[in-house]
Amino acid sequence: MNAAAASTYPIVTRVWKSSIGRKLIVAITGLVLVLFLAGHLAGNLLVYVGREAFNDYAQFLHHFLHGAGVWIARIGLLVAVVFHVAATISLTRENRAARESYAHPATIQTTKSSKLMIWSGLTILAFVIFHLLHFTVRVSFPAERYVDHDKFGELRFDAWRMVIDGFSNPLVVLFYLIAMTLLCSHLSHGVQAMFQTLGLRSKKSAPMVNALSKGYAVLIYLGFISIPLAILIFKFGR
Ligand code: HEM
Repeated sequence: MNAAAASTYPIVTRVWKSSIGRKLIVAITGLVLVLFLAGHLAGNLLVYVGREAFNDYAQFLHHFLHGAGVWIARIGLLVAVVFHVAATISLTRENRAARESYAHPATIQTTKSSKLMIWSGLTILAFVIFHLLHFTVRVSFPAERYVDHDKFGELRFDAWRMVIDGFSNPLVVLFYLIAMTLLCSHLSHGVQAMFQTLGLRSKKSAPMVNALSKGYAVLIYLGFISIPLAILIFKFGR
């Protein structure tokens, strides 16, 4: 394919066809997911403030922009996840083909960490499907049994009680802990790679970027695991 013919492709196709374009897609969608995690954790920590604060927050999310807000966020997240996974799969395939003719110790090291990224990523994906069935579809929390009232006396779903009941099951908590541990490892490496792709990690700034990525991953980890552990072990809310 000559350059003149390739330049007639739409911009999206041109970005996808170049490996730096796909790396940028992984980095930008990764950033969207990293920001989502910080926002989701901040909201979840309201569980400690109490039932009313947590349920007010859940009610706000579901009524934002007359109910459209939550769907805009869901579609945005879905698009980010699909592009993040598809671009990663495509880059991995391409790299594997190049690596096979080119094996030396540094490449083997890269292979190990990219394998861990793929397996941690797939576990996070499986976790998200379980988590959606658990807390969004609420397969085991029928609305008629989880009833709360807002300050105007309007009926609403008792999301706080659902979280407390959800984490009263040790097997569920164990699965969350495993998934959060892999999420922490995925984030720690992924945030560093994101800075690298966006050209924000030079030789000089690398130690700071690495510390920032690890620090962010650990904060997200501790915040998320604190909730199931507080409920199961310290009987918070029970
Ligand atoms: C202790 C950890 C967590 C708790 C207590 C928690 C809690 C919740 C709750 C209560 C909801 C339902 C919100 C609603 O519909 O009112 C929810 C939705 C969701 N959570 Fe989590 N979450 C946790 C960890 C995570 C993690 C680590 C991820 C991502 C890797 C995640 C991704 C999502 C997504 C994508 C939704 C769906 C949002 C929607 O469309 O409604 N959560 N979570």
